[in-house]
Amino acid sequence: MMEQAGILGLGCYLPVMKLTNKDMEKMVDTSDEWIMTRTGIKERRIAPKEFAASDLGVEAARAAIKDSGLKPEDIDLIIVATVTGDMAFPSTSCIIQDKIGARNSAAFDINAACSGFIFGIITAKQFVDSGFYKNVLVIGAEKMTNLVDWQDRSTCVLFGDGAGACVVGKSKDRRIISYFIGCDGSGSNLLRLPAGGSRIPTTEETVKAKLHFLKMEGNEVFKIAVKVMADAANKAITKAGLLCSDIDLLIPHQANIRILMAVAKKMGLPEEKIFLNIEKYGNMSSASTAVALAEADKEHKIKKGDNVALVAFGAGLTYGAVVIKW
Ligand code: UT7
Repeated sequence: MMEQAGILGLGCYLPVMKLTNKDMEKMVDTSDEWIMTRTGIKERRIAPKEFAASDLGVEAARAAIKDSGLKPEDIDLIIVATVTGDMAFPSTSCIIQDKIGARNSAAFDINAACSGFIFGIITAKQFVDSGFYKNVLVIGAEKMTNLVDWQDRSTCVLFGDGAGACVVGKSKDRRIISYFIGCDGSGSNLLRLPAGGSRIPTTEETVKAKLHFLKMEGNEVFKIAVKVMADAANKAITKAGLLCSDIDLLIPHQANIRILMAVAKKMGLPEEKIFLNIEKYGNMSSASTAVALAEADKEHKIKKGDNVALVAFGAGLTYGAVVIKW
């Protein structure tokens, strides 16, 4: 069997504290019933106040490195996908590099929002297949609960905190056999965090106007999400020489159960082939697919020889998919 970039190890970390829909009923005008039927979310995890994205990422990274049988010094490159980095700069990957003692690695962040972990895996594959690096650590780490306006019921019920990671290196199994990424920048206004960047620097006024919180046109994003996720998955699956019916498990970005069921229907996949953990964690942006992949593996949802497809979309709008031969 030919060796090519594949998954050497997986890990994830979820904060202990849960915020349930019942808790949310006390915070905003909502109901467990509305949140469950409209989104599929029952509870989400909240990281402690003193935790930043790097603290979540470190735990997931350590678990993934341990799972791969490698040591931190064996890592050549760290890629962190995040929209909730500790600071605007330095990159969160540099902070994680220091914390885990991966002293031989290069490090950079990527921002592709909820698609970030998939973009990270695909970037890692280029470095591994070219022979430039041996072991690349890819992390999706997010503290989304710092970005949401806790008085805006249309967004605050959706998001949670967490991190997932994988080590990518040359492998005979769990090979990344194809991928697709895309972007539609004309939708960049649909999901954004307006203030704090060079366009609208933070001032007293921007804080008062709550421009440092995430804004989303939920309905618009919903419609586009169904289309681009199904398209991205189809393109990667076709490129792998497979049909949708050959996919044993689809691991989608956990944005909304109704989006995921619509994608499954578009792809002709039965519900039992869709990996779901949205009920427990909500939407963790780039960490969603990372955690889902690690959990699917840990829960023995994937067996040797399976065709696994990861698919995501997010702010940008970005979208992408990866097919892994387990
Ligand atoms: O990964 C990032 C990408 N983001 C997403 O994938 C999100 C995509 N969008 C969605 O998931 C859905 O659009 C939402 C879950 C955000 C909203 O669901 P919806 O079915 O599109 O609801 P809606 O925005 O059309 O709102 C319907 C009603 C409105 O009330 P009126 O105007 O009909 O009286 C909202 O005010 O539901 C109301 N509403 C709520 N009611 C109770 C909105 N949020 C809530 C809430 N609880 N939390």
